[in-house]
Amino acid sequence: MKGKTQAIVAAATGLVSVLGLIVWAYSDAPIGSSSNSNQKLRRAPGAVPVLGDALTINAHLDKFHDFILEIFENNGNKTFSMRIPFEPMGVIVNDPKIVEYILKTKFHVFDKGPRFQNAFHDFLGRGIFNSDGEGWKSQRKLAANIFNVKNFKDFVSDVFVNEMDNFSQVLSEHAKAGDEFDLQDLFYRFTFDSFTKIAFGVDMNTVSEKDKAPFMVAFDEVQARTAKRFLTPMWETSEYMSGQATIHARQIREIREFGKDIIRKKRANDEAGIVCSESDLLSLLMKVKDDRGQLPSDELLVDYALNFLLAGRDTTATVLTWAIYCLSQNPSCLEALHQELSALDCSSPTYEQMKSQLPYANAVFHETLRLYPSVPTNQKQANADDILPDGTIIPKGATVGWSAYAMGRTEAIWGPDAKQFRPERWLEMQKQPSPFDYPVFHAGPRVCLGKSMAELEGVFVLVQLLRQFNVQVLNGKDAKYSLSILLPMTGGLKARVSARV
Ligand code: HEM
Repeated sequence: MKGKTQAIVAAATGLVSVLGLIVWAYSDAPIGSSSNSNQKLRRAPGAVPVLGDALTINAHLDKFHDFILEIFENNGNKTFSMRIPFEPMGVIVNDPKIVEYILKTKFHVFDKGPRFQNAFHDFLGRGIFNSDGEGWKSQRKLAANIFNVKNFKDFVSDVFVNEMDNFSQVLSEHAKAGDEFDLQDLFYRFTFDSFTKIAFGVDMNTVSEKDKAPFMVAFDEVQARTAKRFLTPMWETSEYMSGQATIHARQIREIREFGKDIIRKKRANDEAGIVCSESDLLSLLMKVKDDRGQLPSDELLVDYALNFLLAGRDTTATVLTWAIYCLSQNPSCLEALHQELSALDCSSPTYEQMKSQLPYANAVFHETLRLYPSVPTNQKQANADDILPDGTIIPKGATVGWSAYAMGRTEAIWGPDAKQFRPERWLEMQKQPSPFDYPVFHAGPRVCLGKSMAELEGVFVLVQLLRQFNVQVLNGKDAKYSLSILLPMTGGLKARVSARV
């Protein structure tokens, strides 16, 4: 009996010692992650040995961007580390000078990298968002041919005018019925229809359909799951254990099948001689041969198409949703916008009119993006050891993240009224903010290729919508964002519209 007790005590002591050792060994870095004991980095509040920040992150998932903002507000905007088990060391910065250093000065050191590519591979394959090096360069060069201002003035503007007619028709039906509907969903359909026509030369007309296409449901859910991968220790195992991996794989299949359908439609159009534009993006990409003189496979074309769809559809729909929401919460700004619109004496403003005669509408667009950036957070991974301008040591493989959401609300960048929706600030500025102060369109060599197109489309839709309809936002008080790659409004933007007389 005595021997048995001694054995139990010895085993318990051994277990406690092992646990103690683990806690000691992983006191500053979570388990499965390299230590960063060569420097004393600030940590996120609530970090614990072994698990690092995993528990705190999990507790703040539904207000993640505000959680990051709050940490910076409490620590004077200083770089801090946020780490989860089995992932490389990660730091988050909030200083425009450091953002410039990562995105421009040390562009060759800070890549998308393996961590990003691994999380996105099943969804975005080898498309532009998920590539580095030569693969990225060649896609960027081709796309730059399409998304240039010369193209906007004719073809792109025409597409928006035509698609706006379909959109207005659907809104008129809602106005007549006086029913409640999801305006965010309609914005997603509008940007989808416009973008597929501009970039792929195919006509989808989803805006007039009754139900949300299964493809769109899958596209949205896959994005949300992919974003969580960055915050989940051993996400592959976790998705497998929770059954999410099966749903994810099915939805990826659905999305890729849809992508293949676009390629098929495109080829059928080409054979039938139906031309939407002289040279849409997909036509260009279809002609590019690789090093061995091979044309791209359909799989690769699907990668290309899905990446551009993500870039061109969701980003602009998101900012439109938040713009209508912000205006509904700030009636004096809506009034100021209507004042400006009442001076327009044309049925559809041209590119030049949008640039010169609608300064307040443009300011509303940018003020919305400042507070609700379509891409709220982002990160790069170091491919070599480096030291940030504030002295933070970055070992090879570590990630450096920044939050456009937090930066847009930081007083040190925007002044004491940083959190207030005040489009006037854009009209009062002596010069526009640098892309590092306001990184909503990214910055440096990978700056957004569609910025001008997004401004044109966003302002055009906002203006035409508000000239024709009064919008009553029904979920204004409880609007929340969901954690995803972008910043969708949870549950959509519930609205009613009536025709303006
Ligand atoms: C309000 C609307 C938009 C916002 C806020 C926005 C923002 C961004 C951001 C933050 C990135 C960097 C993403 C990353 O690499 O992690 C990006 C990249 C990109 N955007 Fe946009 N975007 C918008 C609209 C568009 C549109 C309409 C298009 C297409 C016409 C477009 C095309 C692209 C492309 C091709 C890239 C990849 C650039 C590269 O990696 O070299 N974007 N955009």
